[in-house]
Amino acid sequence: MKLERKKTSLYLLALHLALVFETITCQRPDVIASGQTLSGNHTLSSKDGTFELGFFTPGKSRNYYIGIWYKNFVDKTVVWVANRNHPVTNPYDSELKLFPDGNLALLNESKIRIWSSNSTARKDNATLAILLNNGNLLIRDDQDISDIIWQSFDYPTDTWLPGGKIGYNKRKKEKIYLTSWRNAEDPAPSVFSLEVETNETSLVLVYNKTKQYFTTGSWTGRYFVSVPEIQSNPYVLNFGYISDVNESKFTYDLIPKTLTRFMIDVTGQFRQFAWRENYPEHRWGGNWLRPEQCEVPRFCGAFSTCNQLKAPSCNCLQGYEPKLAESWALGDYTDGCTRISPLHCSDVGEVEDTFFFSEGNAIFNPGYRGFTFFRRKE
Ligand SMILES: *[C@@H]1O[C@H](CO)[C@@H](O)[C@H](O)[C@H]1NC(C)=O
Ligand SMILES: *[C@@H]1O[C@H](CO)[C@@H](O)[C@H](O)[C@H]1NC(C)=O
Ligand SMILES: *[C@@H]1O[C@H](CO)[C@@H](O)[C@H](O)[C@H]1NC(C)=O
Ligand SMILES: *[C@@H]1O[C@H](CO)[C@@H](O)[C@H](O)[C@H]1NC(C)=O
Ligand SMILES: *[C@@H]1O[C@H](CO)[C@@H](O)[C@H](O)[C@H]1NC(C)=O
Ligand SMILES: *[C@@H]1O[C@H](CO)[C@@H](O)[C@H](O)[C@H]1NC(C)=O
Ligand SMILES: *[C@@H]1O[C@H](CO)[C@@H](O)[C@H](O)[C@H]1NC(C)=O
Repeated sequence: MKLERKKTSLYLLALHLALVFETITCQRPDVIASGQTLSGNHTLSSKDGTFELGFFTPGKSRNYYIGIWYKNFVDKTVVWVANRNHPVTNPYDSELKLFPDGNLALLNESKIRIWSSNSTARKDNATLAILLNNGNLLIRDDQDISDIIWQSFDYPTDTWLPGGKIGYNKRKKEKIYLTSWRNAEDPAPSVFSLEVETNETSLVLVYNKTKQYFTTGSWTGRYFVSVPEIQSNPYVLNFGYISDVNESKFTYDLIPKTLTRFMIDVTGQFRQFAWRENYPEHRWGGNWLRPEQCEVPRFCGAFSTCNQLKAPSCNCLQGYEPKLAESWALGDYTDGCTRISPLHCSDVGEVEDTFFFSEGNAIFNPGYRGFTFFRRKE
């Protein structure tokens, strides 16, 4: 009898503890537990409060994306985007769900999976998704912290965070590389990417997956020949190249009391931004960038000039106007310009086509040297 009661109370105690534990795991602000969802304006926060994950909408866009950003910065700085190509329009009816099998998926308003991590755990209901202090989103076993089945650092967007990597996944035979956003309001991948050169000795900027337009020069084991600043700079620690059976990669760490990030901007440039704890505001400072704006191929698109001493750097030739005014206004000039009025192409009649010559110190976009252009006389 007594024993029975003891057993019961022990059982109740265990149940109570289990419930308490359950609530605690549910309420952890940095975790999505197995079977749980994140929706609407709910977010995850990394334990130390540096990073936040949730739905965001870039600028005036009406599209929503799942992203990770710095929580405390004045301007929202997004460092990772899940559904780059597949936005949703209503975050309250959409959900990011960690399925019991270990797959993290974004379901749109019709509950269709529009993005998914494609990860699978060995057993059901035994994973969690956790946003780490370094901005990495992990899906791992809920008990064994070393059993990682997926991580956002393997699929970077346009930003290379400390602890993250650029390199090559030997198992999947896939590059781990960055691609810039299309424009300030569209995180879809553009034509500019930052990757490790095929011989794995340098970092290069590449246009449309094929044309290399910038290189750091070879990695000597201590620094890059053409840009030693990448390694020897006051925000970067342990910069190095690592190769093992699974991957080869360039990585670096953070110096305490600072924040930094490398990224490929919508301008097609490789940039480093930094912040120090004693800065008055949570605002980024630009530390470094390469190459010059007008050395980025076709940054200004057809029938335009590039002058990096002016803002904006791109201008349509006389008689031309932006082909896509909307993208142009957002800083995506790659679609170039188009004639305001069509060519007449004839000597007959009142109207003739006329040449204009571009003057001044405009630096022509290297991709578009040597063109001729016409415009109808008014
Ligand atoms: C989140 O949304 C709810 C309901 O729409 C609203 O009441 C709440 O203020 C919002 N919270 C934040 C932090 O915006
Ligand atoms: C959800 O995604 C599917 C597949 O892309 C699409 O057909 C459907 O229209 C989307 N639903 C909404 C409400 O956008
Ligand atoms: C998941 O798989 C789908 C279909 O194969 C693919 O389109 C998608 O890119 C994959 N997602 C990731 C994050 O790799
Ligand atoms: C996982 O959890 C779901 C929902 O709680 C439950 O239906 C399912 O049986 C569980 N699976 C295992 C293998 O425990
Ligand atoms: C890569 O290595 C191959 C063979 O060693 C060499 O022929 C090629 O020029 C190298 N490419 C670059 C970009 O250095
Ligand atoms: C990119 O390259 C592909 C072929 O590799 C070509 O069809 C496409 O037109 C190129 N796009 C641009 C913007 O240059
Ligand atoms: C390579 O990957 C396997 C499987 O994920 C893992 O068990 C192993 O520890 C990895 N090796 C290294 C050197 O990281």
